[in-house]
Amino acid sequence: MTRILGISAFYHDSAACLVVDGEIVAAAQEERFTRKKHDFRFPLEAARYCLAEAGIRPSELDYVGFYDKPLLKFDRLLETYLDYAPRGFVSFFTAMPLWIREKLWMPDLIKLELGKIELGLDRDEDEKAAKKQGKKLAFPVLFGDHHESHAASAFYPSPFEEAAILTIDGVGEWATSSVGIGRGNEVTLLQQTRFPSSLGLLYSAFTYYTGFKVNSGEYKVMGLAPYGEPKYVESIHRDLLRISDDGSLHLEQRYFGYCEGLRMTNREFDRLFGGKPRQPETRLAQREMDLARSVQETTEEAMLKMAEHAHRETGSKKLCLAGGVALNCVANGRILREGPFEDLFIQPAAGDAGGALGVALALWHRYLGNPRSSPESEGRWESPRGHRGPNPPRYADAMKGACLGPSHDEAEIDRFLAGRQAPAVVVPRADLPAAVAELLADGKVVGLHQGRMEFGPRALGGRSILGDARSSKMQAVMNLKIKFRESFRPFAPSVMREHVAEWFELDDESPYMLLVAGVAPRRRREMTAEEQRLWGIEKLNVVRSEIPAATHVDYSARIQTVRRESSPLYWEILDAFHRRTGCPVVVNTSFNVRGEPIVCTPEDSYRCFMRTEMDALVLETRILHKADQPKFEDAGDWKQEFQLD
Ligand SMILES: [Fe+2]
Repeated sequence: MTRILGISAFYHDSAACLVVDGEIVAAAQEERFTRKKHDFRFPLEAARYCLAEAGIRPSELDYVGFYDKPLLKFDRLLETYLDYAPRGFVSFFTAMPLWIREKLWMPDLIKLELGKIELGLDRDEDEKAAKKQGKKLAFPVLFGDHHESHAASAFYPSPFEEAAILTIDGVGEWATSSVGIGRGNEVTLLQQTRFPSSLGLLYSAFTYYTGFKVNSGEYKVMGLAPYGEPKYVESIHRDLLRISDDGSLHLEQRYFGYCEGLRMTNREFDRLFGGKPRQPETRLAQREMDLARSVQETTEEAMLKMAEHAHRETGSKKLCLAGGVALNCVANGRILREGPFEDLFIQPAAGDAGGALGVALALWHRYLGNPRSSPESEGRWESPRGHRGPNPPRYADAMKGACLGPSHDEAEIDRFLAGRQAPAVVVPRADLPAAVAELLADGKVVGLHQGRMEFGPRALGGRSILGDARSSKMQAVMNLKIKFRESFRPFAPSVMREHVAEWFELDDESPYMLLVAGVAPRRRREMTAEEQRLWGIEKLNVVRSEIPAATHVDYSARIQTVRRESSPLYWEILDAFHRRTGCPVVVNTSFNVRGEPIVCTPEDSYRCFMRTEMDALVLETRILHKADQPKFEDAGDWKQEFQLD
């Protein structure tokens, strides 16, 4: 038996993943355990969980893989500093202490941290003993290349025997995007675009400039784009960016600040787009919406060109995508509709967390040379493309529906409820779907905590907040009373896979909520001339379809298709809701408030339930109603607990 622990850390969204004999046994992000969003520290708790899930200790590991090469990254930092000196001093100086203290000594550090798990110590406990213990750990620590880890995370778990691979992010060591090919157990990168030209950093620059947080507010820019006009596309192409036919980019560095300082854009950029960056949390104006639309369109075009180029280079009919930019589901939807590929697989943990999974699988297949059998080679997979009708073909990737995190059984939940003295109704499993559907049909907002926690940024029915998609009030209620977040942000629908084509302009798999497509024309309600004239966000309150709570202002939706095989209880809830209402769609948003990591434990779920105006909480087969709960006391102002994202 070969046990491999993959780790990504020290940049953004640390994570750990355990692969045993090629099977992904567990994977989780550190933030879920420490409750610090995008926690970048060593994933001590995530690694502790992954090992516990398999019932093993660090000393029983055969290999540990780290998702990128710190020395090469250091090389980039040094070289960029020298290129931009003395202006580059600020970023260099800020990054340096962490590098000198931790990153350059990675194998020792990894062993020290895993030594803590071996001894059952907490993060800051007894470093000396942990160091001693770490020295006894015999496994080798191996380093993957950042984009190879992304590529491996995209291809190895995919259902394909052979596929083109595209990875796009901000920056790894030097690469900012790559084109590759996967065949059997081989992943080969063919080309790379190098720092400082980067599609991810271009998007982040606009994220910063429109007043959102870099590395977390990018999806808000994507959500804001449909309110704007593509007014600045021409200027972006003329002044900032050159996209070649092969999808490679050149960014004109004169306008950006990320090489030399801590700001993404500089004064030249301000001059080009008519003013200073928007201050975070101030009112959004039409200008930000137009900027968002413009960078979004540019990104879509660039991604389409990259996809076309990958197709030409590899001749493959399938595409695997990963890297933070692959979370741009509007662009992914366009690649599927307009691009040259017949099939698409997107790694659900497309960001750097997924690198932990990628490096572990790369060690198993590439380093150790173990064969890979894909659903396609075993005949367990049929292409869903072009399928019409109620029985979609089988679909199986190796991600287990991204349900790779901790679960909590009823005994554990009952112990927790007894400790809290929280009254709950015990519902037989067979009656649970109908009971939840009844609450939803009644207009209630329901927190659903069931099964294993999802790996990656999306909640897919394991740690989700659900609402009735048909309700015209649901969007405002969920944004303002449940999530405490900006009112412009749309919600995503979950739909039974069998019925997706009846409700959306999509007849395909989107199990990880990474594709955007239009609401089906017959479900739409056209806006009156008067409604059309409404300004940006006001349009969101106009009922534009039969499922207004999940319809964006441009009639698009970020769709999750749900299959009975991969998510039985969630599918049954949708099915019961469909039987009751005739609608197989519900709103699904992640179980958290703004700035908070998605909930992990029953305690996290209960706390979030009690702090918000959620009506009911489902903890496996226990249903809690808000009205029955004892008064909830919070120490201090809990809204200060989470930094706004
Ligand atoms: Fe990355």
